[in-house]
Amino acid sequence: MVPRLPQNPDQFEDQVKAILEEKYGYEVIKPSKNNFGYDLEIIRPGRRSIAVQVKRFKIPVNKGHVKRFINFMRLAIAGSNFSEGFFISASGFTKPARDYRNDEFNKNPNTPVVSLGIVFHNGDIEWDYLDPRSSLHPSQDSSRETSSAVSSPEDDPSKVHKKASRRYYFGIFTNKGGTGKTIVSAHLAGAFALLKYDVILLDIDPQRNLKKLFQNDEDYEDSSLFVPPLRPGQGGNVISVLDEAEWEVDKDNHNDIKIVICDCNPTLEENSSSLVEEFDYCIIPTTLNPLGIAKNSDVVRRTFDQIRSKNSKAEVHALINSYVTDKAAKKRNDLLLNLLKRQTDFHEDNKFYLIDPNSCAIHYSKSLYYWGMHIVEKKEPELAFKEFGGKCVPREDFLKLADYFRGRFEEPQSTIG
Ligand SMILES: Nc1ncnc2c1ncn2[C@@H]1O[C@H](COP(=O)(O)OP(=O)(O)O)[C@@H](O)[C@H]1O
Ligand SMILES: [Mg+2]
Repeated sequence: MVPRLPQNPDQFEDQVKAILEEKYGYEVIKPSKNNFGYDLEIIRPGRRSIAVQVKRFKIPVNKGHVKRFINFMRLAIAGSNFSEGFFISASGFTKPARDYRNDEFNKNPNTPVVSLGIVFHNGDIEWDYLDPRSSLHPSQDSSRETSSAVSSPEDDPSKVHKKASRRYYFGIFTNKGGTGKTIVSAHLAGAFALLKYDVILLDIDPQRNLKKLFQNDEDYEDSSLFVPPLRPGQGGNVISVLDEAEWEVDKDNHNDIKIVICDCNPTLEENSSSLVEEFDYCIIPTTLNPLGIAKNSDVVRRTFDQIRSKNSKAEVHALINSYVTDKAAKKRNDLLLNLLKRQTDFHEDNKFYLIDPNSCAIHYSKSLYYWGMHIVEKKEPELAFKEFGGKCVPREDFLKLADYFRGRFEEPQSTIG
């Protein structure tokens, strides 16, 4: 049966909080939103707390999110505060998410204690995966009686969560195939994840390219990737690949999502107008080579006109992909760049930018060229961010690109409720 969901994610958190208080006798507080990694905290006298992660999505919670929560529970800071974690979903978990939880425990019995629960329409939690070591098993926890005696009636309404700050939509678009739209979409998502944003990748291509590239099961019911943090000791972030319908029903539930990246169809008409109208930034991947120049500047021009016909606000940025740099190429690149600059000099619009490849471009690389081999080899999804000899050119390039855009965000210093 379909559970009746509260109106918004905050109300769902409140509902979960009430269930944990009323049916489980816990004392539950809402930590400040600055506390990444969990939404509610179950406080127990003389014992470590329980961290509770809550998601109100209408589609099952994916593996990336479960992995992120388990990874959070592994952090030293979480270990010293929490003895276990609950992940509570409004719509259950995908099979890969549940399998991952199970496999982790089987592989390593010291893995954090994490149980997965779903809120049922009757207002109770059904445990989809109850960790054998959980204190919910009476045999594991003799102090449960005492902790249930503590109740916290005060539901402090002043602890209203801050709204997520503004969301940014990226459209990766050209009316030409094979320019790197999919590669750029996926890896820009990866770079934003490294910069600590959870990212939604929107796959509007009927061929489901991105769903395939991030699939954790054969039916594409779970296309997601947990991106470990750049520096150990941090939380890591999640890329979730959704199609447009999945995004439409859930976009208000993804209240923490600030970055949405859309891998567009090369035929503009095939992209939904309402989506194209949302774009804050459009990226047109192009190349800098002699045979391409005349064609590409024309493509950039036409792509730009198409975007403008549907969206007057978006900044449009042409990005050099498959960039080749070495001493010999320098002079040629300069000549070609000047040519491209001249041919894409749209005086009438101040929101077109040719990103200077000397500061930011995506270099040609073998790891990008072969990205997607994991599908052929039937391996888990991954990005072309692996280091070779302590270096990873694609990762550096995409981090620069994400940073380039982050520098353009109009971030409010304080959010107004
Ligand atoms: N920077 C790059 N370095 C090497 N190969 C690349 C690069 N960008 C794209 N490619 C190659 O070009 C192919 C097409 O890229 P893709 O992202 O699928 O284009 P599109 O989505 O625009 O059709 C990729 O499969 C990849 O092999
Ligand atoms: Mg593509």
